Amino acid sequence: MPLTSGPGPRLLLFSFGMGLVSGSKCPNNCLCQDQEVFCIGKQLTEYPSDMPLNTRRLYLKDNRITSLPAMQLGLLSDLVYLDCHNNRIQEVMDYTFIGVFKLIYLDLSSNNLTSISPFSFSVLSNLVRLNISNNPHLLSLDKYTFSNTTSLRFLDLRNTGLQTLDSDSLHHLLVLQTLYLSGNPWKCNCSFLDFAIYLIMTHLEHSDGQNATCMEPEELMGWPIKQVGNPLQYMCITHLDHKDYIFLLLIGFCIFAAGTVAAWLTGVCAVLYQNAHRKSNGDDAEDEAGHRVYVTRQIFRSTTNLDQSRFPQLM
Ligand SMILES: *[C@@H]1O[C@H](CO)[C@@H](O)[C@H](O)[C@H]1NC(C)=O
Ligand SMILES: *[C@@H]1O[C@H](CO)[C@@H](O)[C@H](O)[C@H]1NC(C)=O
Ligand SMILES: *[C@@H]1O[C@H](CO)[C@@H](O)[C@H](O)[C@H]1NC(C)=O
Ligand SMILES: *[C@@H]1O[C@H](CO)[C@@H](O)[C@H](O)[C@H]1NC(C)=O
Ligand SMILES: *[C@@H]1O[C@H](CO)[C@@H](O)[C@H](O)[C@H]1NC(C)=O
Repeated sequence: MPLTSGPGPRLLLFSFGMGLVSGSKCPNNCLCQDQEVFCIGKQLTEYPSDMPLNTRRLYLKDNRITSLPAMQLGLLSDLVYLDCHNNRIQEVMDYTFIGVFKLIYLDLSSNNLTSISPFSFSVLSNLVRLNISNNPHLLSLDKYTFSNTTSLRFLDLRNTGLQTLDSDSLHHLLVLQTLYLSGNPWKCNCSFLDFAIYLIMTHLEHSDGQNATCMEPEELMGWPIKQVGNPLQYMCITHLDHKDYIFLLLIGFCIFAAGTVAAWLTGVCAVLYQNAHRKSNGDDAEDEAGHRVYVTRQIFRSTTNLDQSRFPQLM
C-alpha cells in the first residue's frame, strides 16, 4: 500500500512537467504545430490561455484582443515572432515584452494604440521588424522608445497620429534600412528641422518617400518631409519674420534709451562734481576772477597787435 501511493503523484507531476516542456497543450480553437500557434480570426477578446511554453511563432491577428498580459507572454521565452495585427490593443506598457527578449518580428499594426511607454521595447535588442502602422490614436512616441532596439531594419509608422518625431529617437539605429512615414499629420515647424535633416543625411530607403508629407503649417502643406529640410532651415535659421523685426526694433529702442539715460547721468554727475569742486576751492575765487581779467586784457592786447600787423601800410 505505501509503495503504490508513492509513484502516483510523482508520475502526475512528471507528465505535467513534460506537458509544459513539450507543449502538448494548445489553446481552444487554435492550431498548434511545430512550435507555431495559429489563433487567426477566432473573435478572441483576450489573450488565450494554455499556450504551449515552447512556442516560437504566435499568430493572434484578426481578433478583438484589448491587451497583452506581460505575465503570460513572459512565459514564452523562445518567442521570436508575434503577430497581433488587427486587434484592439490600446496600450503597450514598460513590462509588456519584458520576458520575450528573443523577439525578432513584432506586428502591432491596425490596433487602437494610444500610448507606448518609453521602455516598452527596451529588452528587444534582437527585434528586426516592427510594425506600428494604422494606429490613428497614437499621437506621440517618446524619444527613448527605440533606444535599445539596435537590430531594427524595418520600421513601419504609417497612418498614425504622429505629428513629430525627435531626431534622437532614430539616429542610433545603424542598421535601419526601411522607414515608412506616410499617412501621418506631420507638423513641419522649427522643432521638426532636426528630424528633417536626419532624413536627408541618412541613407534610408523611404519606400513611401513622396507620400510622407507635411500637414502643417499651411505654407509647407504637401511638401514631402524628406525634402522639407531646406525650406525649414530658411524659415527657422536665416529668415526673419515680422515678430523678429519688432523684436529688433525694441532692442534698438532700448539701447537708444539706455544711451540717453547714461549720457544724462554723466552730465548730471559732471555738473555736481564741478559744483562740489568749485565750493571746495571757494578761496581761490578771487584769483580766478583776476586771472579772467588778465586773459581778457591779453586777448585785447593781441587783437590790437594783430590790427597793427595786418594793416601796417595803412598807418
Ligand atoms: C505593416 O502592417 C500593414 C498592415 O496593417 C501592412 O500593410 C504593412 O506592409 C506592414 N509593414 C511592414 C513593414 O511589414
Ligand atoms: C479606440 O480608442 C479610442 C480612444 O481611447 C476610443 O475612443 C475608441 O472607442 C477605441 N475604438 C475601438 C474600436 O476600440
Ligand atoms: C537599454 O538596455 C540597458 C541594458 O540592457 C538598460 O540598462 C537600459 O535601461 C535600456 N535603456 C532603455 C532606454 O530602454
Ligand atoms: C512644433 O509642434 C510640436 C507638435 O505639436 C510641438 O510640440 C512643438 O512645441 C512645436 N514647436 C515649435 C517651435 O513651435
Ligand atoms: C502614394 O500614394 C498614392 C495615392 O494614395 C498611391 O497610389 C501610391 O502607391 C503611393 N506611393 C507610395 C510609394 O507609397
